Amino acid sequence: MDKINFFPDNLDVQNKTIILRLDLNVPLKDKVIKDYTRIDLCLPFIKRLIEKKAKIIIISHLGRPKKNKDPALSLMPIYKYIKKILQTNIYFFMGNFDDKVKDKFSHLKEGEVILIENIRYFKEETDDDENFSQKLGSLGDIYINDAFSCSHRKQASIHKITRYINKSYAGPLLKKEIDAINLVIEKKREPVTCIIGGSKISTKINVITSLLEKINNLIIVGAMANNFLVYKNFKVGKSIVENNTKEIVEKIYKKAAENNCEIMIPRDCKVGTKFDGEGKIKNFDKIHDNEIILDIGTNTISKIKEKIDQSNTVLWNGPAGYFENENFSHGTMSIAESISRNTFEGSLISVLGGGDTIAAINKSKTRLSFSHLSTAGGAFLEYLEGKDLPGLSVLK
Ligand code: ADP
Ligand code: 3PG
Ligand code: MG
Repeated sequence: MDKINFFPDNLDVQNKTIILRLDLNVPLKDKVIKDYTRIDLCLPFIKRLIEKKAKIIIISHLGRPKKNKDPALSLMPIYKYIKKILQTNIYFFMGNFDDKVKDKFSHLKEGEVILIENIRYFKEETDDDENFSQKLGSLGDIYINDAFSCSHRKQASIHKITRYINKSYAGPLLKKEIDAINLVIEKKREPVTCIIGGSKISTKINVITSLLEKINNLIIVGAMANNFLVYKNFKVGKSIVENNTKEIVEKIYKKAAENNCEIMIPRDCKVGTKFDGEGKIKNFDKIHDNEIILDIGTNTISKIKEKIDQSNTVLWNGPAGYFENENFSHGTMSIAESISRNTFEGSLISVLGGGDTIAAINKSKTRLSFSHLSTAGGAFLEYLEGKDLPGLSVLK
């Protein structure tokens, strides 16, 4: 396999314009940053490039804007945060990518930074548009992708941009992430248990079939589990479900049986009538039409803990419930504590990933330890699958 081109730390980049793709997609509530991990992990490299007197243009997305330029998904709060930390001139670009776009960046001096507003405000980004990629590429001399967590996306600032710029590299954070995951893949010991949760059902459900060949147990939690419950003909009230997944769930069960992989889905849950309310534990045959499944139940937690205790490797992405409300965070916290205890006291190899999974873990009052914490959720799972991610293959 071809090797990824990593950014050589000794490369002279003085006065060179670097387009740096980062994943600054952090959880926000009412424009307040709820978890800084993804930003903080990017800072040392930005500082290094400033020291090296490069001119730095940062690109990132935030969420998945549906309406045109949804203000709730502006990168402004992130801009304000990094502006406080980086001791240089840092500008925020809110303009359009028209034919004169290059002139708008020409004021940038050595050691200065421009952060471009949410790149997904432009539909061309998610379309991996040729013209848009060319405009982005024209802004710099060197492209660096330091966003492993969105390297599974075939989008302009991750993928086609590399066709329109002289040199493309992977950054040091991306390198650290894939080195750590490669090490785990190499060292993993059976039984291997994979826990998948969260709410990005369409991204993750398709990954499962190929993962089944590589693991011994699959535990489904979070909103992801709702689709499995619907498949089993349970009524899930107003819970989040993705349409038309019966076929894929059926395929997952079939392939699991062929590969001797055990699938565990929740046995009970905690429901509420609203996201910011209180919850009660219920069995799945008792869910009312106005209720939402927002966490796994106590019975399920015990079964998951047992499985973790029996495992030698655990891979986890996606919270087990709507952890943002403490009333529904118990499942996620219990899983985190159980993995941490087994990692610390025993010999469990544990890798956790995902922007929200990390945010959930950071809310814990106790110190938790894991073999590796990845910023990536969907990308982490696709990488584990053994897929050549579009954003990485263009760096080879
Ligand atoms: P990650 O960022 O770790 O990859 P996702 O983005 O897929 O994870 O999903 C995280 C989101 O899923 C969180 O906002 C969490 O509240 C939500 N979530 C998890 N379980 C449920 C549930 N049962 N109902 C609603 N939302 C849920
Ligand atoms: C993530 O949070 O997993 C990454 O930022 C990618 O986001 P996406 O699933 O919206 O592409
Ligand atoms: Mg997320």
